[in-house]
Amino acid sequence: MTLSTVAQELAWLYLAAPTLVGSVRDFAVFLARSEPEIAAAVVELAPFKCVVLDREDATLGASAITFEETTDDNRRALTAALTALAPAGGQPRRRSAFGYSPVLVGRDPRMLDVYDTIERVSHTNATVLLLGESGVGKEVVARTIHAESLRADRPFVVIDCAAIPPSLLESELFGHERGAFTSAVATRIGKFEEADGGTVFLDEIGELPLDLQAKLLRVLQTRQFTRIGRPVPVSVDVRFIASTNVDLERRVREGTFRDDLFYRLNVVTVRIPPLRERRADIPLLVQRILASLSRRNGVAPRWLEPEALGRLVSYAWPGNVRELENVLERALILARGPMITAADLALSDAPADGAPPRPEPLRTLREVEMEHIRRVLDATDGNESRAARILGIHRDTLSRKLRRLRGPVNGVRSEWRA
Ligand SMILES: Nc1ncnc2c1ncn2[C@@H]1O[C@H](COP(=O)(O)OP(=O)(O)OP(=O)(O)O)[C@@H](O)[C@H]1O
Ligand SMILES: [Mg+2]
Repeated sequence: MTLSTVAQELAWLYLAAPTLVGSVRDFAVFLARSEPEIAAAVVELAPFKCVVLDREDATLGASAITFEETTDDNRRALTAALTALAPAGGQPRRRSAFGYSPVLVGRDPRMLDVYDTIERVSHTNATVLLLGESGVGKEVVARTIHAESLRADRPFVVIDCAAIPPSLLESELFGHERGAFTSAVATRIGKFEEADGGTVFLDEIGELPLDLQAKLLRVLQTRQFTRIGRPVPVSVDVRFIASTNVDLERRVREGTFRDDLFYRLNVVTVRIPPLRERRADIPLLVQRILASLSRRNGVAPRWLEPEALGRLVSYAWPGNVRELENVLERALILARGPMITAADLALSDAPADGAPPRPEPLRTLREVEMEHIRRVLDATDGNESRAARILGIHRDTLSRKLRRLRGPVNGVRSEWRA
């Protein structure tokens, strides 16, 4: 992160949400702590005026912010302030006013509860169960717990219980000896052994098949298991973190999830609230996400028009932070002007407060697909390459679908071809 991107981040956040940023100095310090190499560089932003503590030239896009070199007195005062804030050992101190860390952002009281639990459990070996809707940040929290623990320099191994085919899951988890089955041409260690000394993240634990639930329970109880084809027990030292977006207690009642495994997992439970229940965090998340998206995609940073930010704050976010990231990425790529507009966001008019949407007539997949293609083409002014990229399909596939849609006689909507 260079000095000018830091300055831009500060400026954006301040312009977008001045009341949210109680103290700009706090935010500057948060950034400085999270990016130690610029710690000596930043720091004070008064409205529309940023004072930067070194000679590096900072260029800001369209905004009216100016930079000045500071006086020696200021420099000394700020260096002292930063030194006081920086903890011993150079590790960034956690829990600023803006979030737990640069990757775990938000200061809603319910997130502060989450941070509290993280702090209390990270140094223990307790099993943690993370609950929350899809996209709320379960994996971010799991990684944070690992990073804060004494196991931080050992592996963090993710086991996605929903994505590995059930037939491979056992060999993935426990490993196998050469010749254990026909395709086992070499001995392979499993995820549990790979994670020795570190943390195993059991993602989507609710999807684990019943027979493997029994085997996992044994590992949780004994920290021992056997590779397939070798009946000698292997011991490992791992910490378990599990996550789910389903109601495990209901699964237990229905008989699809073992109650004994549930009790083993349910030692420390962290519930991560959906985004619609912590809307005040949205501008902060938007700021962090836009900054990292523009870095990652190598595009010029853009901020939002106030109306667009308003839409983001009032939207229902059924897909939570992940959906917010997707919406912003699309908008950042598609926006034409220097600012992202409400139209660039292409949000549907879903009710904002989590009320169930009005029932719609049931349509065929083909109709839904075509309507979606139409929306994306409208948003891209008919540019098929860009539309295909957003849709995540090959351009040829899109052309084929369009030919079918437009039918043999003329085009359905020739104005797509701007
Ligand atoms: N508090 C947060 N601060 C910053 N980024 C966040 C936060 N919460 C989530 N994200 C980002 O949102 C995305 C989704 O988060 P994550 O993968 O942790 O969610 P999840 O709950 O595991 O979702 P799923 O159920 O879909 O697997 C990630 O890219 C993550 O970096
Ligand atoms: Mg996840």
